[in-house]
Order: sequence, then structure tokens, then C-alpha cells
Amino acid sequence: MEILVIGMGYVGLVTGTCFAEMGHHVTCLDIDKGKIERLTKGEIPFYEPGLKELLSRNASAKRLQFTTSYEAAKTAAVIFIAVGTPPQKNGAADLSYVESAVGAIAKHLTQYAVIVNKSTVPIGTARKLKQILKDALAEREMNISFDIISCPEFLQEGSAIDDCMKPDRIIIGSDSERATRILKGLYSSFTLNRDRVLIMDIESAELTKYASNAMLATRVSFMNELSGICEKVGANIHQVRLGMSGDHRIGYHFLYAGAGYGGSCFPKDIRALCAIAEDLGCETPLLEAVDTVNERQKKRLSKRVSEYFSKKGGMKGKTIAIWGLAFKPNTDDMREAPSLTLIHSLLKKGANLRLHDPIAMDNAKKELKGKKHIHFCLNEYQAALNADAIILMTEWKQFRFVNLKTVLTKMRGRAFFDGRNQYHPKEMVLKGFHYFGVGIPKVSTDLLRELRSSYRKKELNYDTSVFETDPAFIDR
Ligand SMILES: NC(=O)c1ccc[n+]([C@@H]2O[C@H](COP(=O)([O-])OP(=O)(O)OC[C@H]3O[C@@H](n4cnc5c(N)ncnc54)[C@H](O)[C@@H]3O)[C@@H](O)[C@H]2O)c1
Repeated sequence: MEILVIGMGYVGLVTGTCFAEMGHHVTCLDIDKGKIERLTKGEIPFYEPGLKELLSRNASAKRLQFTTSYEAAKTAAVIFIAVGTPPQKNGAADLSYVESAVGAIAKHLTQYAVIVNKSTVPIGTARKLKQILKDALAEREMNISFDIISCPEFLQEGSAIDDCMKPDRIIIGSDSERATRILKGLYSSFTLNRDRVLIMDIESAELTKYASNAMLATRVSFMNELSGICEKVGANIHQVRLGMSGDHRIGYHFLYAGAGYGGSCFPKDIRALCAIAEDLGCETPLLEAVDTVNERQKKRLSKRVSEYFSKKGGMKGKTIAIWGLAFKPNTDDMREAPSLTLIHSLLKKGANLRLHDPIAMDNAKKELKGKKHIHFCLNEYQAALNADAIILMTEWKQFRFVNLKTVLTKMRGRAFFDGRNQYHPKEMVLKGFHYFGVGIPKVSTDLLRELRSSYRKKELNYDTSVFETDPAFIDR
């Protein structure tokens, strides 16, 4: 089938490449000339595991081509729209890119096509776009039939190819049997082992996308709010999570406390849903709280670090290493990354920063251009050099089995703030760190007494008594 995909971001490029992999002939279009030039050379403008290989295989087989021209809209049977829908000042989605794509399609359409919107858009957008397209065709005095349907995208950066090829579900919001049949056929290659296509009305499909992201963000904010309570009452969020998750109605997924959510979707989609509701006169105290809790959580780590150093001469001149900058592992995406909130706050307090991320360094450099007191480091060990504290912000796998004893010898201090709860608190103490997790109680005097006694009995080769005089670390 002839497919046109408009917008070569994470969604469009992955979608186009995966359809090409299924044997279709796909034209990938973007208005960004530089991006198309790079793609034509086989270069991927962002990091996504496995995408480069898949793209080059399909481009070599001539199933994938790249262009800035809308000419392909003349012959495509299915046209996907996957352009950005960034937030406006009031949080509402900016539809100008989607509308401009539809306007350009209208100038080129010569035959029936199914136009599939994959961008995350407010409810009612597909119908609005239909009218725009109808009016534009009427102006051209062209009597061409078409359908516009909604097929929201659920892929996650970092696992986008798998998410696209093996989707949990495919939602088709349609008011046309013909378009539904064509799209269902197109997606059948991704759903061979069982039917995962859900067909519904367009409005429900558009709302489902916002509802899904809002639900996931709510789970994260819920756990982050609980983590604050845990720290006060001496409970451990990890244990609480396991205890809750055993209830099958709650389940194990997406219930992690941490440094807050970021990325190009959750923050923007929550705010867009609030703006949609406000326009309709619906109150959304729950959704607003999800955003508020997240913004607060993104600032909590910096506050905790300052509290720690308040008893050690303050933040000014302290060297802080930050491990991980991307908003999550396996991506180089820095959009709304919690690390940026932390970095800006620590710089304001007078700290010197040593930063490392395995993949997102180039994007981080762009985001932090012109900022002083920042040193970008080749790896996590280099970042730890002379650091008074390390803060883990992105749970890249390579940070899990770092030689922490070596790391400690490179540091000036011994504080470790684990923004993603990746390490075992007791083990970190045994290694010699002042360890702080999120929603994890400070080390108790009881535990220190226990460790000291093990040291005396020579069961432990690290003398933890050094901590017993440190009020910034222990919980009395
Ligand atoms: N990134 C994700 O993980 C993800 C997941 C699900 C849904 N979404 C949604 O999908 C949409 C796209 O997201 P993204 O992250 O892939 O976007 P992106 O911002 O990374 O890329 C969008 C691309 O569209 C291009 N573009 C803009 N206007 C154009 C036009 N008129 N014609 C052709 N190209 C045009 C831009 O140059 C850019 O390359 C958004 O609505 C987003 O909310 C994103």
C-alpha cells in the first residue's frame, strides 16, 4: 500500500519505518529540510534503540523514502499525520502544525485517501480538520471523497519499535466503515496473534489518549505524594508499593516514586486535558493536583540536597555530580526532564555541576547552553571526581552495577541522592555512602548500631561509626 507519513518526530519516523518493514511503500515527509537531508543519508535525528538498523534496511529496499514535498499526497492511500502538538501558554494544545499539514494535503489530494491523525489532539479536532479539508477542496472545485479518522499513538520512547510492532491495543476512532476497513487491514500485520483493534467513535478515541496519559501520570504523582509521607513516618515506599501491588486491582506497573515525570507527553497532555475541561466548564481538581504534585516533586531533590549541606557549610561552591539527564532511560529526549529543574535550582544555589548521560549529552548541552559552573563528563566515574554528592536522575541500566567503591574514592564527600530508588539503602551505607532515596527512611541509629557491632565482630569490613556523628544523615 502507498503510505504517506507527515512529521518525522518519534511517532512519525517509527510509524513509517515499521510500516515499511511490513512491506508497504512509505513516503516520510517533514518540513524541516535539515532533518530530511539527514534521514536520506541514513542518520536518525534522535536516539531510539534499533531504529537506525530498521530504517537503513527498508531504505535500501526502496520501501522508505524521505521528502519535504507534499506531492506524495496525490497517490497515497493512507496519510498519517504525526506532527507536534506543543502546549500554548495556557496549556491548551497548539493545533497550528496539524492544521497546516491538513491545509497542505488539501492542495495535493487527487483521489480518495484515509487521513489518520496520530498526533495527540483535543476532542473534536478530527471533525474540525474534516471541515478545513472540505472547504479547501471546495475552493479548488475538487469533488474528492476522503475520511479523517483518529488513531492515537501509545508508543513510548526507548521501546518505540516494539510498542509499534506489538501494540497492547490499536484504537481506531472512525465514522466511516470504508476507512475503518482499510486501517484495520493495514494494522492486521501487527496483530496477527490476536485481534487488538478497538473501534470506537472519533471523540472517544481522541479522549482515550489523554485519559491514558493522565492515568499513568496520576499513578506516578500518587506514589510521589505517598513518598513524602513515608519519609516522615519512617515507612519505605518500596515496601508499600509491593504491598499495594499484590492486589490485582492495583497491579505492579507504573507505581514508582522518584524525581517526577517529564518528557514531551505527560506534562503537556495533563495540562491540555485541564484546558479542554476548563473550556467546557468542567472542573478538574484531580488532574490539576497531578501536575502540582509533579512540579513539587521535581523541586524536592534540590531541597533535600540543600538541607543536607546546610549542616556542612551550605551549597555555595559544592560540587555535585548528576548521573542521567534524559527524562527517562533509552532516550536522548530532554523535553521537560526533571534533571533540568534540578540543575537550574542547584546552579542558583551556587553549586558546581559535573554532568553525565550515556546518550542525551548533546541535547543537554543545547538546553544548558551558556550556563556557567557546568562540566560535561565522559562517564559517571569522571563526573564523580571531587564531588561532594552524586544525584542519580535517570535510571540508565549502566548505573546499576557501577563500581561504587571506586566511585567513593574519587569523591570529596560521600552523599548519594538516589532520585530513582535504584540502589539498596543498606548496601549503600555498607559501601560508605550517606544514602538518600525517595520515600525511603533515613538510616536509623538502630541500623548503625547493628552495623557497628558487625564491624566489631569482623563480619563487616567497613567501620560505619563514622556516620554516627553525622546529623545530616542519621535519623534520630
Ligand atoms: N513522543 C512520544 O513519545 C509520543 C507518544 C505518543 C504520542 N505522541 C504525540 O504524537 C505527536 C508527535 O509527537 P513527536 O514527539 O513525534 O513530535 P516531534 O515534535 O518530535 O516531531 C514533530 C515533527 O513534525 C514536523 N512538522 C511540523 N509541522 C509539519 C508540517 N506541517 N508538515 C510536515 N512536518 C511537520 C516537525 O518538523 C517535527 O519534525 C504529538 O502530538 C505527541 O503528543 C508522542
